[in-house]
Amino acid sequence: MYLGLDIGRQYVKMVSVEKTKDGFKVLDAGTRLVPEPNSTFDPEKIDRPHWVMAVRELFRQQGLNPKKVKTICTGISGASASIKQITTMEMPSDELEAAMTFEARKHIPMDGTDAVIDFQILGSNQREVDKIDVGLVACTKGVLTSHMDLLKECGLKPGVVDTYPIAMSNAFTFIKTMPDDGLVVILDIGAVSSSLVVYGSGEQFFTRDLPIGGHHFVKELSDRKEISYTEAQDVLYKDGLAASISNSTDAPLTSVGIAERTIYDNLVEDLRRSLRFYAKQTGQSFFLKIFLSGGGAETPGLTEFVSSKLNIECDLFDPFENVNGGENISVNNKSQYTIALGLGIRGGMANE
Ligand SMILES: Nc1ncnc2c1ncn2[C@@H]1O[C@H](COP(=O)(O)OP(=O)(O)OP(=O)(O)O)[C@@H](O)[C@H]1O
Ligand SMILES: [Mg+2]
Repeated sequence: MYLGLDIGRQYVKMVSVEKTKDGFKVLDAGTRLVPEPNSTFDPEKIDRPHWVMAVRELFRQQGLNPKKVKTICTGISGASASIKQITTMEMPSDELEAAMTFEARKHIPMDGTDAVIDFQILGSNQREVDKIDVGLVACTKGVLTSHMDLLKECGLKPGVVDTYPIAMSNAFTFIKTMPDDGLVVILDIGAVSSSLVVYGSGEQFFTRDLPIGGHHFVKELSDRKEISYTEAQDVLYKDGLAASISNSTDAPLTSVGIAERTIYDNLVEDLRRSLRFYAKQTGQSFFLKIFLSGGGAETPGLTEFVSSKLNIECDLFDPFENVNGGENISVNNKSQYTIALGLGIRGGMANE
């Protein structure tokens, strides 16, 4: 059994899978809140003991003995890693290693510790002869050590450590068929930030962390309506975007006709800017569809809002769609498990 464990800032999520002759079967999925329940979520106040407790409780809740899990796959966020597709000259492997280490140091937020890198040659570059495309993942030793320490404190044997953006793309390729032409956009809306991935067959892989998440949706609503955080959560989960936008009855006359900018406009603006950047860098702008995942994706009205603003089809991503065993998974917010599923599958692939 392979276990994907996504240690988010507000929820810990797990998906367990097993290998079958023709792929994977999903066995179980579960989640556990990291902060105190029924309280105002403050990401600044979450630290290691909260995660350790939540992970341990999640294992207990799902009836899983950590010692019995063969391979556990966890991830680090795109914000503390660098995931890049790089085009470089063909060269011997030791030189490539040195070149990639050099490259990585330019892109990761250095914290005084060395860079840890992992790379894979993707193939020859389509446009330039003698050049190859390399997938490079890097973080600092400090980030990795702190992640490993957290797992140890949870009583877990560290297995595979992946990154969230790669887990998202693995979940996508597992569930859907990547079209031959065009680009797919996946946005995992977490609590504190959102992880954006853009890729396609033979196209440049791109990822970026956007500084907006479901926590900001709740906070904005709570401020606007002058209601408590937990009340705002309830209203938001029920009414979604309509709760923020339909607030104009008591607005002063001067603001009539001027729609007030919401947090959702800011998120879409960040997304638009990132897609424009991608198009500029690669010359590709055939964005087929945007998939939303993560807990915040469930906000009612959000997919419609995104597609109307960007003029690109937008849908929720269901990581259990057409998956062997998926019919037995009864969880509330399926899209919240996308990364955990991608990690579980990665754990299985690493053991081939
Ligand atoms: N039914 C729902 N409708 C709308 N939003 C929801 C719903 N359920 C949960 N959320 C929101 O989803 C967010 C949590 O999602 P998720 O578990 O993906 O985050 P996380 O992984 O803990 O955070 P991060 O990725 O930032 O570390 C919260 O902001 C929460 O308010
Ligand atoms: Mg998350």
